[in-house]
Amino acid sequence: MIPVELIKKKREGGTLTEDELRWLIEEYVSGGIPDYQMSAFLMACFFRGMSEEETLTFTKLMLHSGETIDLTDIPGIKVDKHSTGGVGDKVSLILAPIVAACGVPVPMISGRGLGHTGGTLDKLESIPGFRTALSIPEYKSVIRAVGAVLIGQTNEIVPADKKMYALRDVTATVECIPLIAGSIMSKKLAEGIDALVLDVKTGRGAFMQSYDRSLELAQTLVRIGTGFGKETVAFITSMDQPLGSTIGNWLEVVESVECLKGSRGKGDASSDLMEVTHVLSGAMLMLGKKAGTIAEGVALSRASIEDGTAFNKLLEIVAAQGGDPSALENLERYPLPKHTMEVKTMERGYIGAIDSLELGISSITLGAGRARIEDKIDPKAGIVLAKKVGDAVEGGDVLATFSTDKDEALEPARERIRAAFRIQSAPPKQKPLILSYVEKGGVKTWM
Ligand code: URA
Repeated sequence: MIPVELIKKKREGGTLTEDELRWLIEEYVSGGIPDYQMSAFLMACFFRGMSEEETLTFTKLMLHSGETIDLTDIPGIKVDKHSTGGVGDKVSLILAPIVAACGVPVPMISGRGLGHTGGTLDKLESIPGFRTALSIPEYKSVIRAVGAVLIGQTNEIVPADKKMYALRDVTATVECIPLIAGSIMSKKLAEGIDALVLDVKTGRGAFMQSYDRSLELAQTLVRIGTGFGKETVAFITSMDQPLGSTIGNWLEVVESVECLKGSRGKGDASSDLMEVTHVLSGAMLMLGKKAGTIAEGVALSRASIEDGTAFNKLLEIVAAQGGDPSALENLERYPLPKHTMEVKTMERGYIGAIDSLELGISSITLGAGRARIEDKIDPKAGIVLAKKVGDAVEGGDVLATFSTDKDEALEPARERIRAAFRIQSAPPKQKPLILSYVEKGGVKTWM
């Protein structure tokens, strides 16, 4: 086969056969197809999409580009959660220890930062010593020993997504339902799960900005999971403002630790983060048969924070993956950024909106994400929000604080971050954070 012919076929809106897709993926993984041709193919997919059957085949081939892990010898119903990507979305860091502390094993293969959104792997790697590249035997021994494990794609597990994900990140080919579905579901199906909870983000900071597209993505993901014999449910949740109060890798670890310790997350800027976390954990506990309903699961999830078992579980996971748990108990020991700067407003009123897409992009300019494949992440870089949507402000109030080592990023970031806050004279209408629940049988509005 000739790569350019397959690119042309997709560019013209054609449907690739299983053999054509297999050849393309295998050649790309082995280096026979260069990045520039795969970029062109991905852009053609972005504009032309894939049929339902093509998406299923693409997912299956991505999955079989590497090994699949068998966890049947590990007791319990193994349940994972995956988000389609958001700004300030550190839910996995809090939820994996909660669910494992409640007795449901959580095998998790996560991604790096993608587009303007952060990635769980980059957040975890900001913890000194934490290893996300475990071998399959190490992965199995961590989940057996502590009940949760969080790793990235390796050359053994979904190598096609490892390469393609990094390429999509820097070629503006992320926001495409079949590519997202293939990327997420190949990782999830490879990791040895029995059931899956998906958090499909919608709104300004999400890859799918409209509710209808988010619903289409949620239904596609649920259909693929169910088609592969895994019980799969999805929530559609709002990304109209960043989740919680931090954006940036170590900053998000700090917020997660404070939420797990119960010192944040109730009646403060992290409340939205914990609302989403508890509902997703509750659904995982229901699928893992530790709770009869999502509401019962939410109660167990809250209790694991109150009694300290969830935070202790995080320390165990970190130690088992080579990280230094004392770094999480002594957060003040972490290296400081070269610059920390406040962003203030001169206006009076209420925060009507916070543009999470703009803040996601700003965090990349500060060093918290990648603009090119080879870019190194600065774990200290990022943004801390002092105000969230609905808060009242006076002239002179701080809206956010940001940190960076980059001298040249300071002024542009200050302007960009300030412009991301929309201030209005009247309090904004409260919008729901969790919009819908999608399962095999249909879609329900979430109360
Ligand atoms: N998360 C993934 O793992 N892949 C995507 O394509 C988007 C979000």
